Amino acid sequence: MLDTFKETLGVSANSKCLVDGQWVASMDQNVFQVTNPATQLTLASVPDFQVADAERAVSAAEKGFQIWRQYSAKKRSQILYRWYEKLIEYKRPLAELMTAEQGKPLTESEGEVEYGAAYIQWFAEESKRINGDIIPPQNHQQRILVTKEPVGVCVAVTPWNFPIAMITRKAAAALAAGCSMVIKPAEATPLSALAVCKLALDAGVPDGVLNVITTSDPKTVVKYLCDHKSVKKISFTGSTAVGKSLMQQSAGTLKKLSLELGGNAPFIVMDDADIEAAVRGAMASKFRNAGQTCVCANRFLIHRNVIDEFSEKLAHSLDAFTVGVGTKEGVDQGPLINEQAVSKVESHIEDAVAQGGRILRGGSRHELGGTFFQPTIIVDGKASMKINHEETFGPVALLIPIDSAEEAIEIANDTDFGLAAYAYTQNLANAMTFSHELEYGMVGINEGVISNEMAPFGGIKESGMGREGSSYGIEDYLNIKYTLLGGL
Ligand code: SIN
Repeated sequence: MLDTFKETLGVSANSKCLVDGQWVASMDQNVFQVTNPATQLTLASVPDFQVADAERAVSAAEKGFQIWRQYSAKKRSQILYRWYEKLIEYKRPLAELMTAEQGKPLTESEGEVEYGAAYIQWFAEESKRINGDIIPPQNHQQRILVTKEPVGVCVAVTPWNFPIAMITRKAAAALAAGCSMVIKPAEATPLSALAVCKLALDAGVPDGVLNVITTSDPKTVVKYLCDHKSVKKISFTGSTAVGKSLMQQSAGTLKKLSLELGGNAPFIVMDDADIEAAVRGAMASKFRNAGQTCVCANRFLIHRNVIDEFSEKLAHSLDAFTVGVGTKEGVDQGPLINEQAVSKVESHIEDAVAQGGRILRGGSRHELGGTFFQPTIIVDGKASMKINHEETFGPVALLIPIDSAEEAIEIANDTDFGLAAYAYTQNLANAMTFSHELEYGMVGINEGVISNEMAPFGGIKESGMGREGSSYGIEDYLNIKYTLLGGL
């Protein structure tokens, strides 16, 4: 299978990292293995970069930045647009590669390639709209000019759950702004990262502007990058715990940070909601990528008057759900990423059951073995349960009855997280109350999937800072400069 990838994407079973437009091994020639979570078989080995290797990538990015920042906005836009077209052209092989290393069903992988490509297309357009300002001065001899400049060398530390889209929504914004980037993908999914950046080279991104480094020791390598004076910005998607440590490590050089961290999304259904629509939204929000997304509904707060109807319909939808190897036709849910992920899901279910939760569907490992897990519904949920407080990151829906919008909002906001929240209601006043009162960066009203390139993605509280996508997404890669022109 990897031979196909080698031919079409340049990613082989003994892949190398991308530094300064060249495919390079680590200095000590060490590698680590990438496995398929559905079969546990080794897919490939990639270089195990250490600090000295990372330094080479930063130097390349410094050089790349000096070249790229001189390109006109229009030229950058054209190159980004070609990169977007390459992703669309290679959608199928990219999706196959992603399913092989990440596990999600092929249709979801194809969807992610399109989703990731859409960010490149969006920022190709935005790169032409980095406008400044002219402000009325104090007197007629002066002019106040406001211009925006690329921040410089950026580092992206990206997760395994969206191996392509989480790279493109950072890298496309950075490149559109005129920055260069070093990408450190998750250890589980480096092949998609290498493939997508190979396509950037093919599209005409100059050497050194986009570099990919792989390592089995992210703690040491990323700490080095956080300390590095030449790195001006870090963009990270991952856990809140790691985000906090990157913030501490970046304090010494006062780097700009974009942190897209953990969530604990509430999914509220009122008794005036369209229940069929709420069930469809719940399926999409909860079970996309086997529940392994930061914006997944984590706890369902369902009005007592409709909770039986909602749970029956949700269970009915789940009965038609197929778990299996992602390459198989008709599969809706692949394996979880690793054993640690399964243990967390199991511990959350155990806690819910110990506190009186009743399993309506699933509840244990799937008969396919490995890290496959049954999609699960638990009813008779309580606010005291772990799932209501901690991100599960797995295919478990906990249903907690509520009696009013006020109660739902109180439970929903009683968390340190603030990424995404969802509410279903046909009542405009309720809808506006949820939009206003839910302490989250993103709120979906009668919608279970809210992510798209046109909208600002990001959280508040301990879910992070900064926005990705939309016209706001490029701002994090720009410095504002004010020039006072005098003596005119
Ligand atoms: C994430 O889980 O980090 C991103 C999810 C999304 O983009 O929808």
